Amino acid sequence: METAQKPIGIFDSGIGGLTVVKKIIEYLPNENIVYFGDTARVPYGSKSNDTIIEYSIQDTEFLLTHDVKAIVVACNTASSMAIPALKEKFNLPIISMIEPGSQKAAEKTKSGKIGVIGTRSTISNKAYSKQLKLINREFEILERACPLFVPLAEEGWIDHPATFQIASEYLTELKYEGVDTLILGCTHYPILRKTIQKVMGESVQLIDSGVAAAYNVQEILIRKNLLNTSDSSPFRKFYVSDIPSQFKNLAELFLGMPVEKVTKVDLEEFFKKRQG
Ligand code: DGL
Repeated sequence: METAQKPIGIFDSGIGGLTVVKKIIEYLPNENIVYFGDTARVPYGSKSNDTIIEYSIQDTEFLLTHDVKAIVVACNTASSMAIPALKEKFNLPIISMIEPGSQKAAEKTKSGKIGVIGTRSTISNKAYSKQLKLINREFEILERACPLFVPLAEEGWIDHPATFQIASEYLTELKYEGVDTLILGCTHYPILRKTIQKVMGESVQLIDSGVAAAYNVQEILIRKNLLNTSDSSPFRKFYVSDIPSQFKNLAELFLGMPVEKVTKVDLEEFFKKRQG
């Protein structure tokens, strides 16, 4: 297969990365895609750095067996911890969520007061803070972990009163601190965007790190001459490490398109076979 026609490999701990897939399909409709959702080991957001790095390496190795031309780490938790290890180990473009999301927020903020929400790991790692301070040391950054958002999104509780109540609990302080821009620093959070916007108010700009990253994928593919310009209709393959049927329903809901097949991969078996 010509290099440009090879698929883009995308991974997340579960369904959250589908918000990135949706944007990549929108901006790059010719691209072939192989997605891996590590649904057996979700959430990554409450695990240690070493575990997240180990899982991210395994997820990448799985995608490489599909001969992908680039890896999109469609998980902020993995992006905030595993990018240096992935870049050192693998020789292909690796796209993170952190830099594109920070760049977009820096462009949008007027007051310089930026909120960041994410998993416990992403927030305690200060990945966005560090990146935003590199762009402008004067930025005032307020961060908040919102761990219950992931299970709410995984349950599909997009517009549920409980989601509103929990979002109010998490976000009211950020709102009254007066941030004018809020980075959705977790790929699951755009699924709850409507509720988050309702709580923060219309004047606060929400930054979807996945949208920013999808632009970044486009730029990198153009720069590296890897953009798929073939006319043949693209394939999109979905793999998970657990419960494909639940994933399929949610994937169709989030992507707004039918998903033909979701294949379950037993990662342990997969690595045993490779070693043996
Ligand atoms: N998708 C992950 C992220 O963007 C959140 C889910 C998890 O904790 O695994 O951080």
